[in-house]
Amino acid sequence: MSKLRVQSFAISIDGYGAGPDQSLQNPLGVRGGELMEWFFPTRMWRKMQGHDDGETGVDNGIAERGFDGIGAWILGRNMFGPVRGPWPDESWKGWWGDEPSYHAPVFVLTHHARPPLKMAGGTVFHFVTEGIHVALERAIDAADGRDVRLGGGVSTVRQYLRARLIDELHLAVSPVLLGSGENLWNGMDMPSLGYECADHVFGERATHIFLRRRLDAAPAV
Ligand SMILES: NC(=O)c1ccc[n+]([C@@H]2O[C@H](COP(=O)([O-])OP(=O)(O)OC[C@H]3O[C@@H](n4cnc5c(N)ncnc54)[C@H](OP(=O)(O)O)[C@@H]3O)[C@@H](O)[C@H]2O)c1
Repeated sequence: MSKLRVQSFAISIDGYGAGPDQSLQNPLGVRGGELMEWFFPTRMWRKMQGHDDGETGVDNGIAERGFDGIGAWILGRNMFGPVRGPWPDESWKGWWGDEPSYHAPVFVLTHHARPPLKMAGGTVFHFVTEGIHVALERAIDAADGRDVRLGGGVSTVRQYLRARLIDELHLAVSPVLLGSGENLWNGMDMPSLGYECADHVFGERATHIFLRRRLDAAPAV
C-alpha cells in the first residue's frame, strides 16, 4: 500500500519551515535559506544542480533515501511559486527550470484552477482545487503502488498532519532560530494526532527526526 511520506523537511529549532515574506529573491522567505544549509553541500543537491560532486555523509544518505520508492508528489501552491491569487497567466512554471527534478506527477493544491503543465523529464504539474483528500487520492493513483512524497510547504504539511494522513515525517532540524515565518508546530498536538518519534540521527549539519503515525492511530475522515 502506498504511504504518504514527508522527507527532508527542514525546520529551525523554533519550528519554522519557512521565513516570512516569500518572494522571487527569497523562495523560502527571509532567512529561510538558512534552513537548507545542511542540504546544499550534499551530493544529492549538487546532482540536482547538474554537478558531479558534493558530500556523501549522513546528511546526504538521508536526503538520497527520501527519493527512494516515490511515484508522485503533492505540493502547496506557495511551494510551487510566489504567485498569489488567480493566475494572471500561465507563465509561472515553478522554481525549478524546464526540467524539474521530480520526474513524476506532482499535484499542486490551490484554490485557483489551471490546466496541467507538462515539463521536460517526466514532471507534470496537476493543479488540484478539490482539497487534500482528492489530491492524495489522485497522487496515490498516479504513484501506481509506490509512495507519495509530500513536499510542503508548511500549511500543506499541517493540513495532512491534522487529518492524520501522513505515515512518515522526516524533519531535518537546522541549528538556527528564525523567530518568525511559517511555524510547523503552532497549535499542533502531535501525540494526540497519533504521532511518535521513531528515531533520531545526528548528521553533519542537521539533526534528523523521524516521526511516524502509530499503528493504532487511524486517519481522520
Ligand atoms: N522547510 C522546508 O523543507 C520546505 C519545504 C517546502 C517548502 N518550503 C517553504 O514553505 C513556504 C510555503 O509554505 P506555506 O505554508 O506558505 O504554503 P504552502 O503549503 O506551500 O501552500 C499554501 C497554499 O496552497 C494552497 N492550498 C493549500 N491547501 C489547500 C487546500 N486544502 N485547498 C486548496 N488550496 C490549498 C493555497 O493557495 P491558493 O489559495 O493561493 O491557491 C494556500 O495558500 C515557502 O517559502 C516554501 O519555500 C519549505
